[in-house]
Amino acid sequence: MTLLAHLLLLFSIISATSAVPLKTLHQLFLKADADANANATQSYYPSLPPSLDPWYRAPTTHDWTQTDPGQVLKIRHAPLLNLTVRNALRAYQLLYRSTDSAYNPSWDVTTLFIPRWQARCWSTAASTRWCAHALLSYQLPYDTCNVDASPSFGLQLVGEPYGEVADALGLGWFVAVPDYEGPLASYAAGVQAGHATLDGVRAVLQVAGYFGLRMDVAKVALWGYSGGALASEWAAELAGQYAPKLRIAGVALGGLTPNVTSVTEYLNGREGAGLIPQGLMGIATQHPDAYRWIVSRLRPRLRGLFLSVRRMTAAQAIATFQYQDIYGYFVGGYQDLHTRVMQMMYNVDGYMGYHGVPRMPVFIYNAINDELSDIRDVDELVDRFCGVGANILYHRNTVGTHTQELVNGRQRAFAWLRSVLDGSYDEVYSSMGCTIQNVTYNIAPWVGWG
Ligand SMILES: *[C@@H]1O[C@H](CO)[C@@H](O)[C@H](O)[C@H]1NC(C)=O
Ligand SMILES: *[C@@H]1O[C@H](CO)[C@@H](O)[C@H](O)[C@H]1NC(C)=O
Ligand SMILES: *[C@@H]1O[C@H](CO)[C@@H](O)[C@H](O)[C@H]1NC(C)=O
Ligand SMILES: *[C@@H]1O[C@H](CO)[C@@H](O)[C@H](O)[C@H]1NC(C)=O
Repeated sequence: MTLLAHLLLLFSIISATSAVPLKTLHQLFLKADADANANATQSYYPSLPPSLDPWYRAPTTHDWTQTDPGQVLKIRHAPLLNLTVRNALRAYQLLYRSTDSAYNPSWDVTTLFIPRWQARCWSTAASTRWCAHALLSYQLPYDTCNVDASPSFGLQLVGEPYGEVADALGLGWFVAVPDYEGPLASYAAGVQAGHATLDGVRAVLQVAGYFGLRMDVAKVALWGYSGGALASEWAAELAGQYAPKLRIAGVALGGLTPNVTSVTEYLNGREGAGLIPQGLMGIATQHPDAYRWIVSRLRPRLRGLFLSVRRMTAAQAIATFQYQDIYGYFVGGYQDLHTRVMQMMYNVDGYMGYHGVPRMPVFIYNAINDELSDIRDVDELVDRFCGVGANILYHRNTVGTHTQELVNGRQRAFAWLRSVLDGSYDEVYSSMGCTIQNVTYNIAPWVGWG
């Protein structure tokens, strides 16, 4: 299909729902077209954080809530991102319709990176041979209830923390990085994160053909570590009911946190204790009764400090609250976090394994000595899924901490993702049932938090 045909197809999808100001989209896609626009950078100033940037709002002039989840509502060129992220030819931001934890219409933003290799596809009109055939949705762990620390903004200021987007682009994949916590920065809210991840993929697939992704053969995979694994796991288990037509070839999950209350107990008083206030203020944005309860139960003298996490990154919160007893911030201590209103919130958004079963192959890699989440919770989750026919490769690493396993597991995750994306999975891995292995990979230097 020619670029023009892609363009027309895209416009027909969009005009059918009339969700998007056609003129704006038309202008944007003209900008996107074949290096034509030397003025592209003028269309986009990254100086405003999401909380202040009017682009991060739902459209006001169209009834976007009536559109289907995954519908692209806005798109813009993000010209600085190819400077901060290696191997990117271009980057775009898409704002799309999604669904929050209460199943109300919501919206999220994802950043789509086009790999450098794709230049050959664009210049070789006669052959699709050089065009990408894989999309990786990469969920970055941002672990904060501060919307201004969302990846779409942070990536252009400081680049990416682990170089994994660049490596994936280096393999010729399209890479999308969703702000899966959404407009309220609902850190640790599983349903919100899963929906945002799935709809981010649907949104990207709506436009990716225009950028030359081989839609006839393209495969999609999800990958995330820690907070990113949270979003990816929820996407994997929600996909069957929320996005039944979306085909996902595989999901790689590292450093899982299956049980939010167990993680809280594990982290309290430890180095990572600052993730507790982040998680409580994040998950509660999806549960207004619990949010009001939490704020009302904070000891008055400590309330300001606790609530200041809303302006912190994960690293800042960890530095501020490390080794503290977070229960001590509450009038009623531990009990205040286990009342009925709190438990109802955890039941909806905090426990993996109760909303569905992944129907795609899954790779899980976890350090046995993970200090953020009890490995037994991961064992239990794997057992639960395996009992109902899931296809999982589960690596339990005998060495390393939570942070080290991110590095120790990276090459195994890449190898696994390559196989699901290039179609060789069945030849390399067992495509039936579960394979659980104790492994020993020790390549990571010690790295601290954040
Ligand atoms: C850039 O924008 C200016 C004014 O908006 C216009 O006059 C000029 O033709 C544009 N240049 C290109 C190469 O599009
Ligand atoms: C980034 O993209 C812009 C606009 O497409 C382009 O002019 C620029 O050369 C690119 N930079 C790099 C480093 O590729
Ligand atoms: C989560 O962890 C808590 C604390 O360890 C435990 O009491 C609870 O049963 C767990 N919930 C689920 C759903 O596994
Ligand atoms: C892994 O090691 C644990 C003990 O650390 C043992 O209980 C378990 O059976 C082992 N699992 C496999 C699949 O070898």
